[in-house]
Amino acid sequence: MVGDAGEEALFELLRIPSVSALPEYAAEVQRARDWVAGRLDGLGFTVELGPGGVISAEWMGRPGARVLGLYGHYDVQPPDPLDEWETPPFEPSVRDGYVYARGATDNKGQLMACMRAVELAMANGGPPLNIRFLIEGEEEIGGRSLPEFVRANADRLPTDHICVIDGYFPARGMPSLVTALRGLLYVDIEARGPSHDLHSGIFGGVAPNPFNSLAHILSELKGRDGRVTIPGFYDRVRAPTAEEVEGWNKLAFSDEGELRSVTGARVLEGEAEFSPIERIWARPTLDVHGVQGGFQGEGQKTVIPARALGKVSMRLVPDQDPEEILASLRRYVADLATPGVETSVEPVSYTKPVEFGTDTPATAAAKRAFADAFGAEPVLAREGGSVPVTVELQEALGAQMIVSGFGLPDDRLHSPNERMSLDQFHRGTQFTSRLMEILGGG
Ligand code: BES
Ligand code: MN
Ligand code: MN
Repeated sequence: MVGDAGEEALFELLRIPSVSALPEYAAEVQRARDWVAGRLDGLGFTVELGPGGVISAEWMGRPGARVLGLYGHYDVQPPDPLDEWETPPFEPSVRDGYVYARGATDNKGQLMACMRAVELAMANGGPPLNIRFLIEGEEEIGGRSLPEFVRANADRLPTDHICVIDGYFPARGMPSLVTALRGLLYVDIEARGPSHDLHSGIFGGVAPNPFNSLAHILSELKGRDGRVTIPGFYDRVRAPTAEEVEGWNKLAFSDEGELRSVTGARVLEGEAEFSPIERIWARPTLDVHGVQGGFQGEGQKTVIPARALGKVSMRLVPDQDPEEILASLRRYVADLATPGVETSVEPVSYTKPVEFGTDTPATAAAKRAFADAFGAEPVLAREGGSVPVTVELQEALGAQMIVSGFGLPDDRLHSPNERMSLDQFHRGTQFTSRLMEILGGG
């Protein structure tokens, strides 16, 4: 829709490169915070800025009515690799009904769809119930600011229902209600050998090489069969119920072919005894994300590095405990290290796996709102990703959770050419409008 005010607002927000992972973008992250906070302030919300980019904003124009919370994050992933973008990541570009930009679907488009519904309600005499926004700028780095803010201030943030829109439809035309998110334990594994970098011609064959040692360690953490080898890793894994798995098997999506086409991978990997969807939703896993140290340039340098670093994460499922797994991983890595190399394992972030009730007035309202806005009832699904603050929203606020998303499976979140369907954006706005009406008694 040319000139649509909701789209224009989204494009403005997409132009702000609010990359939380990179310190050089700190001022931009703050600019995105101020942009969002300013907009809520302009709508008549009482806005409080908390530490670490937290925005807590409330409109309590319906004394005695219930409070609907809306969650989102305005920070985005780094845009690299830049040369794979068809148009620049922070210049939103519309093609074939999609807007392309970093953060389009994760999470600016989804956040803006929710905000837009509130804006439209404000222009029509105000929503039928009270609204609380809880928004953060550190989601993509597992930051603890909003989780801590929610825990510390729970008693002055009464919230009956909260809508967390930061995921996607399992398939086009198929909205979902999320019943569980995986947790995450992200660690830096460091290996240290000689006291300084050495010439490999002079010392190769005798000097312990921490990069070789790190490579041994990393390759031992997960077998070729997809099993993580950390002792005790699977001890607390609770299998999904037969009913759950049966429900998933009925969803005609995420078969091997679909996953191969979305990922561009010729074959899938992982535990062969579980279906692909079970592997993503209900099984834990481990991935290496990067290695640093030694020579990273184009040509060659014959160095034995003094240190090497591996970035590794584990996706966790109920009832795995990140702290227990960290303790076991530390012992295991120390055992795997080769002589002369010292290792350390430092956590970068922790998030517990979390499950949500789907039998509440909030989820009943969400089902109706999805049917009205998207013409389809949501299916019950899990998600493989993590949204850390959902733990606190559920535990500390005690709010009824609606966890879902307006993205599509091929939106390429975290990848080059991330995009959001503008149709999903507008229907997402309608969903939020209907949700407010239904929960407000309409
Ligand atoms: N929106 C995603 C999480 C997500 C992905 C939910 C797919 C549902 C389906 C979120 O922005 C994200 O990327 N989270 C990080 C959290 C981490 C850095 C603590 C993740 O899952 O890697
Ligand atoms: Mn997100
Ligand atoms: Mn993300």
